[in-house]
Amino acid sequence: HLQPPNDSQMGDLRRENCRAKGGSGGFKVAVLGAAGGIGQPLAMLMKMNPLVSVLHLYDVVNAPGVTADISHMDTSAVVRGFLGQQQLEDALTGMDLVIIPAGVPRKPGMTRDDLFNINAGIVKTLCEGIAKCCPKAIVNVISNPVNSTVPIAAEVFKKAGTYDPKRLLGVTMLDVVRANTFVAEVLGLDPREVDVPVVGGHAGVTILPLLSQVKPSSSFTPKEIDYLTDRIQNGGTEVVEAKAGAGSATLSMAYAAVKFADACLRGLRGDAGIVQCAYVASEVTELPFFASKVRLGRTGVEEIHPLGPLNEYERAGLEKAKKELAGSIQKGVSFIRK
Ligand code: NAD
Ligand code: LMR
Repeated sequence: HLQPPNDSQMGDLRRENCRAKGGSGGFKVAVLGAAGGIGQPLAMLMKMNPLVSVLHLYDVVNAPGVTADISHMDTSAVVRGFLGQQQLEDALTGMDLVIIPAGVPRKPGMTRDDLFNINAGIVKTLCEGIAKCCPKAIVNVISNPVNSTVPIAAEVFKKAGTYDPKRLLGVTMLDVVRANTFVAEVLGLDPREVDVPVVGGHAGVTILPLLSQVKPSSSFTPKEIDYLTDRIQNGGTEVVEAKAGAGSATLSMAYAAVKFADACLRGLRGDAGIVQCAYVASEVTELPFFASKVRLGRTGVEEIHPLGPLNEYERAGLEKAKKELAGSIQKGVSFIRK
């Protein structure tokens, strides 16, 4: 807490105790980087999620303001703010799910890898806190470059002796959200009816939409395949350029992050058949990390689906994706091992 509990915080504590004594249950979720462009709408949407009983909002700036604001929403989650490194451990203790959108975003002309030098260190510090304070939590990594920050997180957890590959997930949901939207536009369907698997990683050619596996089953002309693949792979850049220096995707990312976090929480609750794409430790290819469909359950990633049949275009895309991914993974691993 930023200060000793006041009357309204005492009310929060009573509500939380009441839940602990057999009330409606729910999960404890922390957002690290909660005052940022993604963090704020993500925190707001998590406050609206009935599966969340406690929401911890951590940032190195502005956490008290965002917390005060969101705490006035009349939904049941109890919200607490934590400001600065000295409050990181309090923010993390007891959490079931930790979502990490902390770090700098791209400006036009940059690649996600250009963010490595700043964001690698941020993710390292936050994961050291997780290893110490909530080693059993499910961790959702949003900070870019995801292709490298997830291997960084894995190495930090290995060093601390807490690594459980089932509990560490890189968030690639925005690629799926975009793919569903763009494919629905081409097919003239409602995007909610469309399901496009997107595998590989989360940067440029490593983002590999499997258009041959779109549901409902559909066929595309070669021109449509080129257009859709290019638009899905460069969706992030489309937003970075439209924002013209004011950052990257924040609102669609918050939406995607909450969709993904909700799937993780429903899995933790024991719901059956929760399947989403995510970037995880994997044996689907020869690479140690790869995004594909995974089944989420009480222990995190309970099953990793194979890629399924790929056409020639997708097989060529896969080779390109693997080549770039291998370097990004190695870069993340070396950052911790060096
Ligand atoms: P932002 O600059 O608006 O917000 C980042 C927040 O992180 C800020 O509030 C900042 O104070 C905070 N922060 C910085 N260092 C911190 C630390 N050590 N501990 C806690 N918080 C810290 O940026 P944004 O637009 O919210 O983007 C955040 C990250 O998410 C970027 O790296 C961006 O590239 C990435 N991103 C990923 C995806 C994806 O699909 N995975 C999509 C969009 C953006
Ligand atoms: C995205 O896909 O929107 C994010 O990875 C942010 C970016 O830099 O493109």
